[in-house]
Amino acid sequence: MKGSVSAPGKAILLGEHAVVYGKPAIAIPLPQLRAVADFHQNERTFTICAADINRPPWHWSASAANSADPLASMAALTLRHLGICAPTGEITIRSAIPIASGLGSGAAVSAALGRGIAGLYGKTLANAELNALVYAVEKLHHGTPSGIDNTTVVFEQPVYFQRGQPLKTLKPTHRLDFLLADSGVPALTRVSVTAVRQLLRKEPVRTNSLLEQIAAAVAAAQACLAAGKLLQLGELMTENHGRLQHLGVSSPRLDALVAAGLQAGALGAKLSGGGLGGNIIALVEPATRSAVERALLAAGAIRVLSASLGG
Ligand code: PMV
Repeated sequence: MKGSVSAPGKAILLGEHAVVYGKPAIAIPLPQLRAVADFHQNERTFTICAADINRPPWHWSASAANSADPLASMAALTLRHLGICAPTGEITIRSAIPIASGLGSGAAVSAALGRGIAGLYGKTLANAELNALVYAVEKLHHGTPSGIDNTTVVFEQPVYFQRGQPLKTLKPTHRLDFLLADSGVPALTRVSVTAVRQLLRKEPVRTNSLLEQIAAAVAAAQACLAAGKLLQLGELMTENHGRLQHLGVSSPRLDALVAAGLQAGALGAKLSGGGLGGNIIALVEPATRSAVERALLAAGAIRVLSASLGG
């Protein structure tokens, strides 16, 4: 068997961090930004090549399955799930998703790899099966993930996600345009999630109140998406950024990007993902889109990507 399978990146619109504590969050897939797995069966020892994400080629062995490498974990879990003991074939991973920038690179690479391994044997994994496997890998390597990354990436749908609740996909009635601006600072989600956990221990009342406020904004944003109320949605995003600042997961660079985007006419802007680095997301209108993009680049963004929904 030979072929190519993939999974998209993702961006969180509202609700990051609070989602770790059982609150809802909204995330969107980024279909233009993908991790791809090219697979071909050759009856030789199973090998994964992933030069794009700085991995040396990885060759299957029974002990390699216990590696600390997320790719090895995903391969081992998928092979076990499919009942394959002596795998063969080659998979090459290519990814256009920046690493450690809050855009779901890890989950997308795992999802593409899982699909590629199934492809080697002429099989397809159902999204629910693949989602469980990717989530297991996220848990092994990223601490206490909420599951929003793997869910958005695997189902490739805008989601209203709440841990432990049935998946709710969103169908925005109006077109929404976003810009994602990369601060150029890599940041590990585990670090910001740990920082929030420590704050919760130190200042439980204030921190819980911030998490509740974020949850309320997510619920309000869902209604705005359904009704096409873009001005209000933008305001909720900007307010959400303020709460993330209070949670201690923003940075002067992220704040500068948010401020620049707003000043240039974005309807709303906030950090997206774990924070402390990575990307901000700005809601823009066609009329101000280019001005916002220029302002973000002038404020230090190393890259500005477009994303859209609905319409
Ligand atoms: O993986 P990132 O950086 O996009 O962030 C994930 C969002 C968090 O809420 C911070 C963590 C989680 O597991 O939901």
